Amino acid sequence: MTTVIVIGGQWGDEGKGKIVDYLAHLFRPDFGVRFNGGPNAGHSIDNELGQFVLHQVPSTILTPGGLAVLGNGVVIDPGALLTEVQELQAKGVDPDRVRISDRAHLILPEHKQRDQSEERLRGEKKIGTTGRGIGPTYADKAARTGVRVADLLLGPLEAGDFSLQSWEELLWFGETVRDRVVSSERLLAEARMSAKSLLLEGAQGVLLDVDFGTYPRVTSSSTTRAGAYSGSGLTPDSSEVILGVFKSYVTRVGEGVFPTELPIEEANQLRELGAEYGATTGRPRRIGWFDAVLGRYAQQINQFSHLVLTKCDVLDQMPEIKICTAYRFRGDQIDYPPATEAGLLQCEPVYQTLPGWRTPTDQVRKVADLPREFRSYCNLIEELVGAPIGLISVGKRREETIEVNKLAL
Ligand code: IMP
Repeated sequence: MTTVIVIGGQWGDEGKGKIVDYLAHLFRPDFGVRFNGGPNAGHSIDNELGQFVLHQVPSTILTPGGLAVLGNGVVIDPGALLTEVQELQAKGVDPDRVRISDRAHLILPEHKQRDQSEERLRGEKKIGTTGRGIGPTYADKAARTGVRVADLLLGPLEAGDFSLQSWEELLWFGETVRDRVVSSERLLAEARMSAKSLLLEGAQGVLLDVDFGTYPRVTSSSTTRAGAYSGSGLTPDSSEVILGVFKSYVTRVGEGVFPTELPIEEANQLRELGAEYGATTGRPRRIGWFDAVLGRYAQQINQFSHLVLTKCDVLDQMPEIKICTAYRFRGDQIDYPPATEAGLLQCEPVYQTLPGWRTPTDQVRKVADLPREFRSYCNLIEELVGAPIGLISVGKRREETIEVNKLAL
């Protein structure tokens, strides 16, 4: 029995899709589970089946066998989900393995309109949402006015409570997915009882978490390890492998504070090398150096058993590489992030500069073959964040992955 939880350690886009695909291929989980977010996510995968960007369906769907579960903590856009499933089918993926929690909330057309109009009204205070209706749907969930998948099947739903467009979409969706709807918390509890293996796939990242992220410019769900439990109904288990996925530099899409952000010229270079454009919205991502203050904070909240460091090959040609080790804040040196955006905006990063390795690493498959400077960089990250690195990714393909420390899979 193995449970692996994959959590984004930064502001999303850390390369979780590739890592989930790598792990799924390695240990063939009986269940892949999404537990938070919705079509705001874009998990990119490049494998023998082709190139994919998965938004709502767990990335494990690309590995044969096992069920792909959308848990109670996700919000589902009915039309977008059916389109995604059809696209998967067209590429030869069997969509019959998808299961949907009866407690998941539905994104209605009104939610998307509200998301976009509220964002316009925010003016300079805009969040930079993906416009997919995520915030308003979670707001309705908390306000106890949301519509859940179970409502479609068990009723009563009144046509008069919805716009015609929403109503027709709901009826059609309910009929289409009826046979795939499950009590996912029961399904997963039974899976645990019969020693099945599970892979929980987080969306977004710790710094976008509604509680622990850079509020208010965050998403509206729990993106952390705690969210994995509340969004799936599973309970913590001491044998779990908890992976925190970190990019070897940092990116952010949307608005908000970013202490280690690079000036435009330097950012442009890494953006092109790393193809740093949003997988869901196509927006150029902002880019900065690895921030170990925020990394350590993510470690405190999640207690990752291992870190996964991605896109390391993007740094291959950099003459020197910086890591933010602390902040200067109001005359002091601090090693934690202040709780407000205004506080974080006053933080000036303290950097340690390391020499770059200036040699290609995409062909490297063993730690021993990594350049010395690369290993020093990894050691410093482990020391500053406070957890060992389990995997290193040096390219987008599955095989471009180096196992640094054995994971108990
Ligand atoms: P929302 O989740 O669409 O409400 O957007 C809130 C914030 O989270 C915005 O800054 C988005 O750019 C960001 N965000 C949401 N989903 C993702 C993601 O999957 N990757 C990176 N950023 C995201």
